[in-house]
Amino acid sequence: MHVVVLGSQWGDEGKGKLVDWMTTNVSAVVRFQGGHNAGHTLIINQEKTILRLIPSGILHSHVRCLIGNGVVVSPRALMEEIAELQARSIDVFSRLGVSESCALILPSHIALDQARESAKGKSAIGTTGRGIGPAYEDKIARRAIRFADLYSERLLIEKIKELLDYHNFILTHYFKVSAVSYKETYEELLRFAEGYFTLKTDVAAELAVLKKDNKNILFEGAQGALLDIDHGTYPFVTSSNTTAGAASTGSGVGPCCFDQVLGVAKAYTTRVGAGPFVTELFDDTGKLLAEKGHELGSVTGRPRRCGWFDAVSLKRSAIINSLTGLCIMKLDVMDGLSEVKICVGYKYQDQILTMPPVDSSVLEGCEAVYEVLPGWPSDSTKGVVDFAQLPVQAQDFLKRIEEVVEVPVIAISTGPDRAETILRTAIFE
Ligand code: GDP
Ligand code: IMO
Ligand code: MG
Repeated sequence: MHVVVLGSQWGDEGKGKLVDWMTTNVSAVVRFQGGHNAGHTLIINQEKTILRLIPSGILHSHVRCLIGNGVVVSPRALMEEIAELQARSIDVFSRLGVSESCALILPSHIALDQARESAKGKSAIGTTGRGIGPAYEDKIARRAIRFADLYSERLLIEKIKELLDYHNFILTHYFKVSAVSYKETYEELLRFAEGYFTLKTDVAAELAVLKKDNKNILFEGAQGALLDIDHGTYPFVTSSNTTAGAASTGSGVGPCCFDQVLGVAKAYTTRVGAGPFVTELFDDTGKLLAEKGHELGSVTGRPRRCGWFDAVSLKRSAIINSLTGLCIMKLDVMDGLSEVKICVGYKYQDQILTMPPVDSSVLEGCEAVYEVLPGWPSDSTKGVVDFAQLPVQAQDFLKRIEEVVEVPVIAISTGPDRAETILRTAIFE
């Protein structure tokens, strides 16, 4: 089976935890878009691992982890992440493969991302500052340096010079900041080329062999559907397609191969960075969700904005991804609340919308219409592994989500640890 697991909100839904948990039954885990803007947290017996680029299957020794062509790879970030895992005796080199078609993130992409954000001042997107946007720009403009290019030294020298001349012109003349060193860039790429060449692989070919052998493969999304470059809250989005179609284009597997697309969502909503957020809370409940849910960016440490579950935006996510199942995370964070809310409509001027508007400026003018459900103030869902053992109000909350979004809830997470998970419907036959 080929199963896509992706974020259905604005990222940080708990994809890493879910993918790691599901990996027990699969032969390969594939990342297909984004870069080290991601921060995926895995907790196993209280030991925490935060992955940025490496697929969340890496802790399982039987699993092939692949970084597909759709991912933008920072050699520096990848080398650091590999070193962290190797230091914990996780044999990354035998498990990981990186597509030779991956476009690389250079130090100048990071400088451009940061210079652009500070020049924007108050209207900044709030990017992670990891060079993601500029790297995808170069990929689309057909001037990126790809992993395979590192193995043609003469071509590489020419390519770096051409690209850095262009980047440094913009950095020094337009943004009036320092240029990036050619030598530093070249040395970083050379170090990566020499020490990490065994990672280079043809991901599409590897996946074709696994498919032929009827192996289970997981495709791990980064960010979330509402941050998609086309379908998200543009311009407050990331620079890749985060939706299900990217699992195909970003790995080299045709669209007919996918059996399931699972949308990961929190039992509430969070967002990091700027952009419209209809159910955002500015009151004590918002603060409580942030505190109880430890809502700080896994990598950047930035506070995440918090709000109620937004079934309206989830409906769009369900459509644009063809979701076959929902995985609702962090249910335990809602413990103790006397009432819980689900946003079932948007009030815009004198209309009630049940599909979110595409235009971010219209979205900014929308107000949430809530359905209020009883909470479970004196019960705990923490660590529950059986749906029937959840408080009846929590069960009703989940059932109402699936009714409104029109997608079944197939898994529920009741704590950050791998073990704190409820499987409601079997994923792999
Ligand atoms: P990802 O980017 O989608 O992988 O999510 P992140 O790792 O950035 O953020 C999710 C955070 O929630 C991490 O700190 C997880 O350890 C934590 N987490 C995941 N599932 C649960 C859960 O069910 N309950 C609680 N309390 N925390 C969870
Ligand atoms: P994971 O995979 C949450 C957000 C940034 C910013 C916007 C653009 O952990 O869910 P970028 O650096 O991509 O150009 O920033 O996207 N963003 C994320 N928000 N989780 C993420 O990843 C994110 N990756 C990017 O905050 O608003
Ligand atoms: Mg994250």
